[in-house]
Amino acid sequence: MIDFIKIGEVGNIPALQFEVLKNQALFDEFTIRQEYRGTAHGDTKTIPLRLGKSITPETKAEDLTPHIMLDEMEFEDWGNFDKFPAVRATISEIMDAMNLVELGWATIVSLKPGGKIEPHKDEGEYCANFSRLHVCIYSEQDVSVIMVNREPYLVKVGDIITFDNKAEHSAGNRSKTHERIHLIFDAR
Ligand SMILES: [Fe+2]
Repeated sequence: MIDFIKIGEVGNIPALQFEVLKNQALFDEFTIRQEYRGTAHGDTKTIPLRLGKSITPETKAEDLTPHIMLDEMEFEDWGNFDKFPAVRATISEIMDAMNLVELGWATIVSLKPGGKIEPHKDEGEYCANFSRLHVCIYSEQDVSVIMVNREPYLVKVGDIITFDNKAEHSAGNRSKTHERIHLIFDAR
């Protein structure tokens, strides 16, 4: 059983870091992903780039249900995506290289120093059909860990990785001082 694969490395990390730095105020605009009841993402902040169509700027945390998160199969770019041309180009390059043709959700996620994403499984029609990809944009060295089936995998800046998010997984940022920022997207 393969739980976790490093696919490769991104060549233009400084461009991605620069886009996040320039736009980091956006981390405080969309907060419902870390606020809805039962979220595993309480230690994170997010810049959404592309989301399920039923989520709008008016959606409140109490409207966000596992059904919306895990079963919706139609997606739309969020206004922020245009502010991240290097991120968009990186996603396209990775999808082309992997023969993936449809982009699902795409978000930039910051995990706070010492923060954790609690163990969970991603279930539902959406997760069954899309692969989850991560690019580590910013992290202190040797502190970004993803656990799949309780096995830890270290993610380094620039790494492109994928893992079985239908299996139990969790994540942690072992830095005491710096956030860990990943681009996370789903494609098929
Ligand atoms: Fe997950």
